[in-house]
Amino acid sequence: MDKRSGRFIVLEGIDGAGTTTQTARLVERLRAETPKTPVKVTREPSDGPIGSLVRQVLTGRIVIPGGRAPGWTTMALLFAADRMDHVESEIEPFLAQGGVVVSDRYDASSLAYQSVSSGRGGDAAVEWIRELNKHALRPDLTVVLDLPSELAAARREVRGEAAQLYEQNEVQRALAEFYRELARHMPNDRIVIVDGKGSVDDVHRRVYDAVVARFS
Ligand SMILES: Nc1ncnc2c1ncn2[C@@H]1O[C@H](COP(=O)(O)OP(=O)(O)OP(=O)(O)O)[C@@H](O)[C@H]1O
Ligand SMILES: [Mg+2]
Repeated sequence: MDKRSGRFIVLEGIDGAGTTTQTARLVERLRAETPKTPVKVTREPSDGPIGSLVRQVLTGRIVIPGGRAPGWTTMALLFAADRMDHVESEIEPFLAQGGVVVSDRYDASSLAYQSVSSGRGGDAAVEWIRELNKHALRPDLTVVLDLPSELAAARREVRGEAAQLYEQNEVQRALAEFYRELARHMPNDRIVIVDGKGSVDDVHRRVYDAVVARFS
């Protein structure tokens, strides 16, 4: 599973923390600094068939009878299935060529979002979600953008898109806390928590420093 020559970097954080913005900035920087190394940008939910299905659930276009979103167990299975498809069809082939893959979210998002929304106080849900993702390729580095939930909410407000599943303030506050303790839930992974406050440039410098520190 782990046979590869490339590097796999993941950005994580609550909704509005800046993962999409910073993934794009990091990819741009890596391409500029190492023009000979292919760099791929990707995301979860992925752009594959199962990822598209998950996006339709997140935006409320797919509901169960009665009109609510599927429960956390269904979501955890869907996300895990998308992840396997994503790794197999997009990530592994690129790493095998010696490329760098930067993903906007990966399985830490499943651990955080599905366990927080399980309403079970977390640990039993975390164990089960970890089990589901046991065969998912491990990132070489996971960077968590740490931002207070109120600041992230303000950024989402500016962005002005319709609220998605999980975007209630209570859920976001619990998620921010979960992410700060991510290393406890993923003890074998390399996780760096980066301050997500400040300008896009400020945060980019911190993310880039974390990447350089990991690989130099
Ligand atoms: N450092 C920053 N300062 C101010 N605004 C920012 C900063 N970083 C990102 N933004 C803006 O905040 C909004 C949220 O950023 P972004 O879309 O990157 O977050 P995200 O973590 O990908 O959110 P989601 O999880 O909902 O996809 C965007 O409108 C973005 O332009
Ligand atoms: Mg995003």
